[in-house]
Amino acid sequence: MASSSSWVRMVTAQTPTNIAVIKYWGKRDETLILPVNDSISVTLDPSHLCTTTTVAVSPAFDHDRMWLNGKEISLSGGRYQNCLREIRARACDVDDKERGVKIAKKDWEKLHIHIASYNNFPTAAGLASSAAGFACLVFALAKLMNANEDNSKLSAIARQGSGSACRSLFGGFVKWIMGKAEDGSDSLAVQLADEKHWEELVIIIAVVSSRQKETSSTSGMRESVETSLLLKHRAEAIVPKRIIQMEEAIRDCDFKTFTQLTCADSNQFHAVCLDTHPPIFYMNDTSHRIISLVEKWNRSEETPQVAYTFDAGPNAVLIARDTKAAAQLLRKLLFYFPPNPDTDLNSFVLGDKSIIKGAGIEEMKDVEALTLPPEIKDAQRFKGDVSYFICTRLGRGPVLLSDGSQALLDPETGLPK
Ligand code: DP6
Repeated sequence: MASSSSWVRMVTAQTPTNIAVIKYWGKRDETLILPVNDSISVTLDPSHLCTTTTVAVSPAFDHDRMWLNGKEISLSGGRYQNCLREIRARACDVDDKERGVKIAKKDWEKLHIHIASYNNFPTAAGLASSAAGFACLVFALAKLMNANEDNSKLSAIARQGSGSACRSLFGGFVKWIMGKAEDGSDSLAVQLADEKHWEELVIIIAVVSSRQKETSSTSGMRESVETSLLLKHRAEAIVPKRIIQMEEAIRDCDFKTFTQLTCADSNQFHAVCLDTHPPIFYMNDTSHRIISLVEKWNRSEETPQVAYTFDAGPNAVLIARDTKAAAQLLRKLLFYFPPNPDTDLNSFVLGDKSIIKGAGIEEMKDVEALTLPPEIKDAQRFKGDVSYFICTRLGRGPVLLSDGSQALLDPETGLPK
């Protein structure tokens, strides 16, 4: 190790979040986070939804510390400890010529690290922040410690932070293979296709206003495993077939099958939640209204235009077949769920601005002028029931950010900037 205690070595990474189209719900091992079925997700564009994490090491640090969105948090939880231990076990020699820092493999056990992590979307919005967070932590630490593992191997470590995190190690379409090994070594993520494979898809997320305190995924799925017979049937008999069909639909860019499977799987996951004792309600009236809007529209067209899926909360993730369908969808959504008075359109429809432009909406008066979608009979509007929309697309996997200005820790002190 370099003799002076003044050096700080840092790495910054950015990792996307993902949304499952075939859901992970239920563990067969709670500590190693091993699932009861395979799952498939799409990775969302990190320009709109991502976590940035800087990790630093210095002989001057006297314990491991972490800051999340600027606030110091404890690293004592088992999930953090498991990820840190697994990455440290794979650390290798580092020869950082730029800083004149050499770290021998054996020194990593003694060195402490600082971690700063930031989500470019509200953590409390229920948008899979733990998935992007643990994926980014593991990816950044692996680079800092020169752990020569490929992203699938890293995914098996991120999995121990949060199951869905393993799927954020890749862009595009990703499958988490449940694996069979007792030690979890074969429970990892693989990329099915990259983000260019089916570029036409557009994703609109409706962040639904909710006052309800939700059951966490971790405790919800534990209760489902303990009490739901439907979960058992789903994991054994339904998901294995759906995984094969979904892989084919993705390979062939078959939107009709993709939509049928995505919607059915989301609905079955929520049915499992209802089949849990006591029942868990993640969706609310707004979620149900969005489902019915999409179902009616899809039925009125020759072929489906939009797929919907909901995780452990009321937010809708809507996947439109192309930009034309996305523009129509956004117009329908804005008709039903206009913002509260005095809301600025720019803070109500976030993300990829080309979608709202394509919908022909430039200012609030264009929202007010929207007319009732033809397939719907009911003219009732639900002002304020959606907090905001995020328009996005499929995105890439983790990257390193080499520009020092994007680092979240000070290069001299290793403390948050
Ligand atoms: C509904 O990955 O958050 O989003 O492994 O306990 O951390 P833990 O759970 P988590 O569960 C995600 C569940 C889901 C479906 C999915 O992402 O596949």
